[in-house]
Amino acid sequence: MLSHDDALALDAADPLAGWRDEFIIPDPDLVYLDGNSLGRTPRRTIHRLHDVMATEWADDLILSWGRWVDLPTRVGDRLAPVIGASPGEVVVHDSTTVNLYQLVHAAIALRPQRRTIVVESTDFPTDRYVVDGIAKSLGLTVRDWGEGLDDDVAVVVRSVIDYRSAAMADVAGDTSHARDHGALVVWDLSHAAGAVDIDLHACGVELAVGCTYKFLNGGPGAPAFTYVSSDLHATIEQPIWGWFAQADMFEMGATFTPQTDMRRFLLGTPGILGLVAADEGIGITADAGIAAIAAKGRHLTDVLLTLCDDLGLDTITPRDPLRRGLHVAVRHPDARRLVPLLAREHKVVTDFRAPDVIRLGCSPLTTRFIDVYTGATTIAAVAAQSLS
Ligand SMILES: Cc1ncc(COP(=O)(O)O)c(C=O)c1O
Repeated sequence: MLSHDDALALDAADPLAGWRDEFIIPDPDLVYLDGNSLGRTPRRTIHRLHDVMATEWADDLILSWGRWVDLPTRVGDRLAPVIGASPGEVVVHDSTTVNLYQLVHAAIALRPQRRTIVVESTDFPTDRYVVDGIAKSLGLTVRDWGEGLDDDVAVVVRSVIDYRSAAMADVAGDTSHARDHGALVVWDLSHAAGAVDIDLHACGVELAVGCTYKFLNGGPGAPAFTYVSSDLHATIEQPIWGWFAQADMFEMGATFTPQTDMRRFLLGTPGILGLVAADEGIGITADAGIAAIAAKGRHLTDVLLTLCDDLGLDTITPRDPLRRGLHVAVRHPDARRLVPLLAREHKVVTDFRAPDVIRLGCSPLTTRFIDVYTGATTIAAVAAQSLS
């Protein structure tokens, strides 16, 4: 089994190790394995927020809107290469839930004769709830992805990485399968962006959303993103008509005439502090390089899965490194009680997903191999005690 010294040797050889210094880490002994829920705090974010507040807001007041107004598209352009999109195809705004609502509606409007939405019954709750709500208001039918597709399906909603097991979908295959039935797919990249080197163009993806507060380290409640492939920009229509989507917004026109580009997905006044925090988090990922981040992520999760095997922990995360995200899901009957106990008494922060999963997240810019080693051995010891 991997030893404490082996883990230290892996850290010493890690080409990304230096990036950890870019983050505030007040307690180096805390084993933080929850960057899949909330990434750590980048130092740059604190400096940038201070500048924005002390100078752009306090000194320049409303004059700063000149540089703030296009932040949703500028931050989107910074994110685009991280997910295999082009500049002009991504905007950063609102929440994943709101953005998903917009895109599912937009997709249905592109397939007006069809009456069915498909979603996976095990997908993240907000995705299922948004689909159910839209189906109820439009009188459509919801079907489980496992039941297959037919020519009545307007849109499929799928997560790239399963929030519970970390299994990665076949994004290219599922997109093309849906296209064969004339359906669109809205992909949720929440657990994929900043974690795996996904290439939306290469996979033929047309519509996607995702959050920036997990592996992109954008901060708590940081705004989400919307991606629409450029060939749909001219025709796609979204249901929430706000003034930030309006062409010539300051002309205060009588009727809604949307922008012809991705700005047509914007709603109202964006939260600038959240946007600049997202910008810095995304910037670190872009600077470190998604290929290197994804490669370290595969290595960390490989080591963690092997440790779990050696320690007798039961995992449900796929073994193929190209078919999983960056957390490892351990099943334990006492998981609900163990997760807070591990944080409180053993300084190992993980998270719990009902009914019996402990998720161990590996964030390549901040998680060390020694964290993975300490986390796994501590969890195994505490889990064994709980069953004895
Ligand atoms: C797959 C997925 N979608 C959506 C969300 C959350 O959406 P929101 O940012 O709107 O709360 C999460 C949160 O963990 C998630 O895992």
